[in-house]
Amino acid sequence: MCGIVGYTGINNVGGILLKGLKRLEYRGYDSAGVAIVENNGIYVQKTKGRIRELDEDDFPNGNVGIGHTRWATHGKPSDENAHPFSDCTGEFAVVHNGIIDNFVTLKEELIKKGHEFTSETDSEVIAHLIEENYQGDLVETLKNIVGMLRGSYAICAVQKDSNRIVIARDQSPLVIGVGVDENLIASDVPAVLDYTNEVKYLEDGDVAEISSNGVHIWDSLGNAVERETVEIDWNLEDAEKGGYEHYMLKEIYEQPKAIHDSLLGRLVEFNDVDFKQYDTRFIRIISCGTSYHAALVGKYIIEEIAKIPCTAELASEYRYSSPSEYLPFTILISQSGETADTIAAAKEAKQRGCKTMAITNVMNSSITREVDEVIYTQAGPEIGVAATKTFTTQLIVLYLIAMELGLNNNKLLRENAQDYRDELRRLPRHVKVLLDQSEDIRKVCEKLVDADDIFFVGRNINYPVALEGALKLKEIAYIHSAGYPAGELKHGPFALLTENTPVVAILVKDHTFEKMLGNIGEIAARSSPIIAVGDHDKELKKLSDKLITIPSVPPMFSPILVNVVLQLLAYYTAYELDCAIDKPRNLAKSVTVE
Ligand code: M6R
Repeated sequence: MCGIVGYTGINNVGGILLKGLKRLEYRGYDSAGVAIVENNGIYVQKTKGRIRELDEDDFPNGNVGIGHTRWATHGKPSDENAHPFSDCTGEFAVVHNGIIDNFVTLKEELIKKGHEFTSETDSEVIAHLIEENYQGDLVETLKNIVGMLRGSYAICAVQKDSNRIVIARDQSPLVIGVGVDENLIASDVPAVLDYTNEVKYLEDGDVAEISSNGVHIWDSLGNAVERETVEIDWNLEDAEKGGYEHYMLKEIYEQPKAIHDSLLGRLVEFNDVDFKQYDTRFIRIISCGTSYHAALVGKYIIEEIAKIPCTAELASEYRYSSPSEYLPFTILISQSGETADTIAAAKEAKQRGCKTMAITNVMNSSITREVDEVIYTQAGPEIGVAATKTFTTQLIVLYLIAMELGLNNNKLLRENAQDYRDELRRLPRHVKVLLDQSEDIRKVCEKLVDADDIFFVGRNINYPVALEGALKLKEIAYIHSAGYPAGELKHGPFALLTENTPVVAILVKDHTFEKMLGNIGEIAARSSPIIAVGDHDKELKKLSDKLITIPSVPPMFSPILVNVVLQLLAYYTAYELDCAIDKPRNLAKSVTVE
């Protein structure tokens, strides 16, 4: 989703802004622009399309500037709708992430007062509101106008003849990079890491002023506040491709390490959260997209290991559901910690009186401020839009939580817990075995590339994995695919099965295996090509066109291994089709609007 960068310091700003914007490319965008404070004015250049279409040779020298990559919400991608926006006098320039819900009313009022607008965006009202309300101090002006905005925002504004950048945030990410003789702002840490590894995270409602040698922050009540400076312990290399053609492939290959890091220090004793202080007799897990699929797997894990009833819900549905008298312990899962729907769901759960806990991969991300407890997944930065290693580590954390809850309520025997720990410890090696077979898995893609529709089916704990496999393929290979519980095919989707409709079927040797074999037989009878993923079995081999086997693990741990196969299938299919794997069309890494 949109990216913001800003710089004020002793160096020439143009190249710094472009570099920062490139570091945020993974978020997805459709237009880009910069504003540079120059002698006696503000230079603005913006364009529909890629960052490279901005003409750096035309940039003036300057030490203060802001840049933006836009992901269209209000108004189509165009030069006019790209940020930054200026007011009518050209004294100010502004970039904005988020959505201003009441922009129509604000715009009408501003037009009545004589303001002329150049774009269809909601964001442009901010530049005009600044002009309209400016009384000599940009910080005071911004403090004043954020009170008029409804919605979500990260705002950065610069002013003619000033070396300050004034910023504000509410429900949209914004970090300050604290340097020496220079300070930066950005939507995400990678954009400042070339210059500093010390950052301050703003809180909702904060307004701040940044100059080359100072950072001043005020909270939503207008009180001057300090925000902790956090040292980032990963570097740009961690967030770069390291020889892989795509971030997605690199991140798939990082999974053995990601699993290992997520287990580190947690297997023998789990100290992240003391669950004994909470009522955990009923659990609800809320999230979106891939994180929702992790939540669905989590439901099976928690019910199996800890025998605690658990539901998984989509954040965008939960927040509009009716409150009930049950107050389940509520777990929010979000890789980025910035997904607007999941953050809103966290607030809603709290408001209803539930105790809340987030599972996220990003330190100090917005969701961490909304919940009672946080567990970090330790996957390292994930840049590819398609979530891969973070799904895997979300499952790892869910296994750990389930074990902890099971030990606490005596539903999990100590000796069984020890077996689970041993299985978890072995997972990185099993994943490595699958990654070593990636060339064989790649060959199977021949059966998928020409398809218009593909089904993914599974049962029980592997049903959500089928959903995830289908999502990954749609997202990066642009092939329509649907995940189904295998038992449901005969209730409608059977009508679609032909020899041109491949079915990817997950079969592991659990209590559903025989039923699954029956389902595979029914599918084979409709001549659909079958790609089976799971445990070795003679009958299955006979029925399927291709069987990809996973290392032998108890069924409960199979989702992690099966999913690695499905990730590779999606990746290589998208590769064969020459798709923009790391930045699929119309998508953004973190969806910070509703
Ligand atoms: O950052 P989050 O986990 O909250 O993101 C949720 C979804 O937007 C995300 O998982 C999305 O579905 C992925 N791009 C899928 O690969």
